[in-house]
Amino acid sequence: MVLLETRNIEKRFGGLQVLRDISLEVRKGEILGLIGPNGAGKTSLFNILTGFLKPTAGEIYYKGKLWKEITPEKMCASGIARTFQVVKPLNGLTVLENITVGSLLKYRNLRLAMRKAYEVAEYLDLLEHKNKLAASLPIGLRKKLEIAKSIATEPELLLLDEPMGGLNSGEVEEMIRLVRQFRDNGLTIVLVEHVMKAVMDLSDRVLVLNQGTIIANGKPEEVSRDPAVIAAYLGE
Ligand SMILES: Nc1ncnc2c1ncn2[C@@H]1O[C@H](COP(=O)(O)OP(=O)(O)O)[C@@H](O)[C@H]1O
Ligand SMILES: [Mg+2]
Repeated sequence: MVLLETRNIEKRFGGLQVLRDISLEVRKGEILGLIGPNGAGKTSLFNILTGFLKPTAGEIYYKGKLWKEITPEKMCASGIARTFQVVKPLNGLTVLENITVGSLLKYRNLRLAMRKAYEVAEYLDLLEHKNKLAASLPIGLRKKLEIAKSIATEPELLLLDEPMGGLNSGEVEEMIRLVRQFRDNGLTIVLVEHVMKAVMDLSDRVLVLNQGTIIANGKPEEVSRDPAVIAAYLGE
């Protein structure tokens, strides 16, 4: 089943075209890797899929229904969550409070939201840090907290924007386990990531963006052998 589909998405910032003719499908239950050199348009595409940016042209279908008037609130309410490449927790709040900010988007009742946040902290092994201020966390835990906040909205589709950037190899391994666990528990995932080992290990399918267009779409081992993909990365 196709969960999310885009047809001919274009995005221009003034004279700069950052996405052209992006038609893609995200199938329920898969991990779709989305890779490409810096500036390829990956984050812009995430911003469009989550309502933070309006496409210049093109359509988005979610569960077969055309999306009009996409806003971050609507996307969240319909089960789409994303993380940000540059994580920005509320530094003056604790880990548990930050996760509660996420769960409040789903549970308007504070008591229920706090209970959900606690469950998520437990699920992601963050309980020992729950009362620490977000500002005090090292990058590995900040990245994990970012994911916890998005998981707390109980999404069906999770868009991860470079969750492993800045992590050491042990933390990358842990993040790989975590992403796989999400998928095994029924989440559909789109993973933007520069750590190739993670993308290749995790993805059922990989899409490659270069200069705003899709240049390859296939199994990880096919894509990594594709001459156009190799050339795009050599250019970086
Ligand atoms: N708000 C913006 N205004 C103008 N240009 C932007 C904006 N956001 C991104 N861009 C440009 O769009 C291109 C794609 O950027 P981005 O989507 O961040 O790529 P990626 O995430 O693949 O590195 C880059 O050339 C970037 O400078
Ligand atoms: Mg990016």
